Amino acid sequence: MDKTSKRNSFTGSLGFVLAAASSAVGLGNIWRFPYLAAKDGGGLFLVIYIILALTFGYTLLITEIATGRRTKQSPLTAYGKLHPKWKGLGIVACIVPVIILPYYCAIGGWVVKYSLVYLTMGGEQAAQDGFFNGFISGTGEPLLMTVIFLLAVAFVVYRGVNKGIETTSKILMPVLLVMVVVIAVFSLTITHTDESGATRTGLEGLGIYVIPNFDGLTVGSFFTTLLDAMGQLFFSLSVAMGIMITYGSYVNDNANLKTSINRIEIFDTLVAFLAGVMIIPAVYTFAGTEGMAASGPGLMFVTMPKVFSSMGDVGHIVGILFFVMILFAALTSAISIMEAVVSSLMDAFHISRKKSGSHRNIDNSCRSGACMSWL
Ligand code: ALA
Repeated sequence: MDKTSKRNSFTGSLGFVLAAASSAVGLGNIWRFPYLAAKDGGGLFLVIYIILALTFGYTLLITEIATGRRTKQSPLTAYGKLHPKWKGLGIVACIVPVIILPYYCAIGGWVVKYSLVYLTMGGEQAAQDGFFNGFISGTGEPLLMTVIFLLAVAFVVYRGVNKGIETTSKILMPVLLVMVVVIAVFSLTITHTDESGATRTGLEGLGIYVIPNFDGLTVGSFFTTLLDAMGQLFFSLSVAMGIMITYGSYVNDNANLKTSINRIEIFDTLVAFLAGVMIIPAVYTFAGTEGMAASGPGLMFVTMPKVFSSMGDVGHIVGILFFVMILFAALTSAISIMEAVVSSLMDAFHISRKKSGSHRNIDNSCRSGACMSWL
């Protein structure tokens, strides 16, 4: 019997769209997109990003997903099946998720820690100076949190395409979207007067985010914005990481790829945009334009807890929603990254999902010659 006929597949278009969208929506949408938009001229970045998403993004997504669907293989073996001379591309496409996974799980562990701090201790301690640096410079606790996150990811991947990835995405993605919308709407309603008597509102912050700012625009700064948007697009859409080839290999032959890809792009871009609506007005209102200079870990783990602390009692609830929402986004993206690796090992060495995590079984498989078949 042909091995490809035994391959698991998503139960329908909805399962595929939500699984792919849950891979796309991750830390990149939440901690990078809003910062780049604020830095690169607000609406100008948004317009460039959307144009790139509709052109490059669409082309890359459809190419990777179609490659997976056509070959019914994950990245390590898919390119070689398309053309024997392209086997090397498969190795590169498989190395990328191997490199990203530890980084993603380490940050996932930080998100676990902050979710616990907000859920069990009110979150006030997270707003204190030095809390974040104190936590990440420890040895035991960050490692423990990373292991907890990694085990949760591995559990879902172990459960497989339908019971694990598809079910998790179908539950977490709608919940995540509702949380993002609730926090974004709340962000637009806030007003704050600082110690100097200056009053700032969430709506003013929204203006900074969406209104194109052409002040000081030069050819050089335009290209910086273009490159920032391009880099963001690759990371955010999970392309060039082997993930979309893997998920494409689980898509039914009768699914409409064009419609599905449109939905994935809309979902990913909408969440990235809403992450900006959620973060930029809140940071602007409570921390001013200086606070908006923060990005990445500084924005998420240092600036945002201070913003929540300034909100008073409601900041505790918003902080819980915020970190649990990021946890869901990080979890579903990390699941897709691990799946690209596990699926590649399964396809290359003809081993089961359970065995693909064991080096011993890979060694045995190689001894029996199975691993040579794809070289
Ligand atoms: N696409 C995922 C993210 O944005 C990797 O974080």
